[in-house]
Amino acid sequence: MDARALLEALPCPVIPVVVIDRLADAVPLAEALLRGGVSALEITLRTPEGFAAISAMKSAFPEAVIGAGTVCSGDDYRRSVEAGADFIVSPGASEQLFSAAAKHDVPFVPGAVTGSEVISALERGYVTLKFFPAETSGGAPAIKALSGPFPQLRFMPTGGITLENMSRYLDLDSVSAVGGSWLTPSNLMAAQRWDDVSQLASTTVARVREINMESST
Ligand code: 3PG
Repeated sequence: MDARALLEALPCPVIPVVVIDRLADAVPLAEALLRGGVSALEITLRTPEGFAAISAMKSAFPEAVIGAGTVCSGDDYRRSVEAGADFIVSPGASEQLFSAAAKHDVPFVPGAVTGSEVISALERGYVTLKFFPAETSGGAPAIKALSGPFPQLRFMPTGGITLENMSRYLDLDSVSAVGGSWLTPSNLMAAQRWDDVSQLASTTVARVREINMESST
């Protein structure tokens, strides 16, 4: 499955961007988010626990879509695949990453915000891109502008996206999913308040339904 098909098959097009500080939190966190109706997670490699967290979540919830994020090297890519990641996301792209992606049958979402970065990804066949950092790179208007010369692109914007502003992105046909850390605030994670995390996920899912209804009327 390619990245676009994977993202567009999600029941809820919102992907929490997760930082795991304690491996023991991985499974209860995934359970809370899945219970709230979110079915895909991006586990960042910003902490050493990232790889083991992906493995633990995939073992506990094989049906969940668990991706690796902040993948910045060929070695990160390989280790993410070995950990069981269903997709790989990077805040950027490089020869090393493209070459690692070509060796594995796991969807890769490279990061791009400029015309040159987009062209570099397109040259290698990537049409689904992470747009990061979204809000400071021009937000939804910038994505809309890029769709002029590049109508084939699909974006997964992250960076500064919240429950309040996600509709600006989800309203665009070129946006397949949005991501962000608002579903896993560090204070709730530190206090292991999983019911509150689950509630945030349900609130987000309900808001996505409203946005879909508003756009279809
Ligand atoms: C990412 O890697 O996608 C971002 O760090 C998420 O950004 P946010 O914390 O502003 O949601």
